[in-house]
Amino acid sequence: MTSTLWQRTGGIWPLGVSCSLTWLDLGAIAHILQVGRIQTVLEVGVEHGGLAAWLRSYGLYTGAVYRGLDITLNALHTVVRDRDISAIDQRDAWSPATVSEIATWLDAQPAPALIICDGGDKPRELHLYAPLLRMGDVLIGHDYHNEYGDDALVDMPAEQVRADWLDDTLLCMFVVRG
Ligand SMILES: C[S@@+](CC[C@H](N)C(=O)[O-])C[C@H]1O[C@@H](n2cnc3c(N)ncnc32)[C@H](O)[C@@H]1O
Repeated sequence: MTSTLWQRTGGIWPLGVSCSLTWLDLGAIAHILQVGRIQTVLEVGVEHGGLAAWLRSYGLYTGAVYRGLDITLNALHTVVRDRDISAIDQRDAWSPATVSEIATWLDAQPAPALIICDGGDKPRELHLYAPLLRMGDVLIGHDYHNEYGDDALVDMPAEQVRADWLDDTLLCMFVVRG
């Protein structure tokens, strides 16, 4: 039996809630959380909450902090709404007020942090949130080579990481190193 599930977004429901990532994307994020010893996660663009549910569960076991932003919570799955609404804000992630508030919030959270850009315009979000990165924080953008390519990332104010375990994903990754 052949399947294209491994390369399809929205094909897996890690905790019973639809997620826009492929399983390779999810595997890469699990790897980043682990090797980066990530303590705080910000997700821009939550939608149904498939990734949010998984990250909140990760936090339950590890103590990692999760916060999600979405311009509308209309698509949020009922179970995520019931369990996780305290960690998910209805906000326009592109507004200067949101970016400024998140910068203040992030400063107060344990490092290192992972920021996941998966809203309506990933290159825009990557540029908006890269200046918030502290030393050792990680920034990833979804739908790389799907919705945008390297030409959209040439002036990113952070170092792009090229790694073989990112090759088959739809993720681009940046870090600030010392
Ligand atoms: C691809 S979905 C996110 C999927 C989710 N990360 C997951 O893994 O299941 C994109 C989401 O970005 C949200 N979005 C679009 N523009 C936005 C903005 N300006 N601020 C915040 N969220 C936005 C949409 O409402 C939509 O729910």
